[in-house]
Amino acid sequence: MMNSNKIRKKFLEFFKKRGHKIVPSSSLIPDDPSVLLTTAGMQQFKPYYIGKADAMKDFGCLNVASVQKSFRTSDIGEVGDESHLTFFEMLGNFSFGGYFKKEAIQYGYEFFKEIGLPIEYVTVFGGDAEIPADEKSEKIWRELGVTDIRRKGREDNFWGPTGSEGPCGPTTEIYANGIEIWNIVFNEYYCKPDKIFVPLEKPGVDTGMGLERLAMVLQKKKNIFETDLFSEISKKLPSGMDERIRRIFLDHIRASVFLISDGVQPSNKGAGFVLRRLLRRVMVHEYLIHKNAKQYSGNNVDVLTFGLRDYYFAAAEAAVDFYKNFYQELNWKTIHAVVDEEVQRFSRVVKDALRKMAKSPARLDARESFLLDQSYGLSFEVQKDIDPVRMQNVTREKFDEEFKKHQEISRAGIEKKFGGHGLLLDTGELKAADEEELKKVTRLHTATHLLNAALRKVLQDQNIRQDGSDITAERTRFDFTFPRKLTPEEIKKVEDTVNEAVAKNMDVVREEMPYADAVKSGALHFFREKYPEQVSVYTVRDGKTGEVFSKELCGGPHVLCTSEIGRVKIIKEESSSAGVRRIRAALDR
Ligand code: ALA
Repeated sequence: MMNSNKIRKKFLEFFKKRGHKIVPSSSLIPDDPSVLLTTAGMQQFKPYYIGKADAMKDFGCLNVASVQKSFRTSDIGEVGDESHLTFFEMLGNFSFGGYFKKEAIQYGYEFFKEIGLPIEYVTVFGGDAEIPADEKSEKIWRELGVTDIRRKGREDNFWGPTGSEGPCGPTTEIYANGIEIWNIVFNEYYCKPDKIFVPLEKPGVDTGMGLERLAMVLQKKKNIFETDLFSEISKKLPSGMDERIRRIFLDHIRASVFLISDGVQPSNKGAGFVLRRLLRRVMVHEYLIHKNAKQYSGNNVDVLTFGLRDYYFAAAEAAVDFYKNFYQELNWKTIHAVVDEEVQRFSRVVKDALRKMAKSPARLDARESFLLDQSYGLSFEVQKDIDPVRMQNVTREKFDEEFKKHQEISRAGIEKKFGGHGLLLDTGELKAADEEELKKVTRLHTATHLLNAALRKVLQDQNIRQDGSDITAERTRFDFTFPRKLTPEEIKKVEDTVNEAVAKNMDVVREEMPYADAVKSGALHFFREKYPEQVSVYTVRDGKTGEVFSKELCGGPHVLCTSEIGRVKIIKEESSSAGVRRIRAALDR
């Protein structure tokens, strides 16, 4: 049986013998701002196809071959089936004006012979209104004796570009055992950002063959996760795991090991955000495995933390051991440190997050699902994993739309105030730079609603109106109409009233209703502001007695129940302008 090491070696030797220079894999973080992560072998060679770099000078040769670390973010949602992966290794040969269709197809044909894999059929580009059919490739295959040649359209047999622009062209694909094994691309065009195709001066060859799929076929396995590429990692996972979740672990753990070793750190942006999603998905499932096994109990954070990472660490170390001979950059120490820190961070929210999800509406809409992601770090995939029924109305598309809306809203705010840098959330009222801050401003936000209600109760003045608020991770600043200074006793009483509501652990419930109904129900709102027809209303209610403490029109986000807020302290009461008072309050911890 051909193990994966041998397959890599065979592939590279095959092309070395045929005059190719062997080039090491480039980093998963590409040197190209138009893409987030390296998605194919050709990524590092883009400049050579378009004459921006000189292959003769850099490689001493126009033809190269590589085994490239690749990552496809768009496949995260599919992982768990028989064949999808985020991270994978791509075997590829490339030519920048050295050879073209005849040699490229001949090599494909010969390599299959060499590894003893019969070609089942091949596909070629059948042409459309813009680009003619690839009759040349069809003819070459026929001359090699391949008879099952299928013509396909743009969807299947046209590559590229990666990112918003780049080389692209028709492809021919080799199939064996019912699956696509090798994609051979003929870069004849350059696709410009406006989707106009211009012929490339020197056409090039770009090929890609997924190592995992090839190993699956050669090792006669039913799916990629049974190949030797995963077997060592798989041994470290608990037996009896749900098969889909096991595959998600295998993929995500292996992928994160490679991302971290290429310098990616968990964050809320770009590649860091992709890594965070992979890690946290594994952590949520680890938590549930331990919880369901009732192996761990209590609220002890160390126990909880341990239950988030023990399988991860065992499996990740096995991945490093297995892959380090070929990928020397794999660095167990760094991986351990980076993941440990993320575990510490996530362990503080995971329980709240799952509780929040369990208490949310029976059928979430995209916005509610998105808020769970934003406030509690439960990604779309995790929500789908743990509660598919509750998520049945939320599609990836709808979720992404919410994300876009959110980005536009925060971007508008950020650009105004901070010249375009750094904020995770900025509603105008709430500002948070990262998830830690987001948790704090969320707590302070609900505290602000309590404060608003407490002022009306203590001062016994129903004419009090909110005149603006501003919430940062440190404090809330709340302005309200009132004709005089508050006495120290009044301030103390307001503070106590807020803290009593916290101590009662009241529920915070979000509802959507027409604006007119919200106003009729007595929900507090700004008089000056314009509201949409349908509004969301947050009610703070005693779960036992049903007493409504506060009710306000509001876009959120808020905590799930008031005990999450902790003690609230009024720091200052002062005049803001004529007839308007200003209170600053902070959380004790
Ligand atoms: N760049 C081509 C692919 O990734 C070969 O399929």
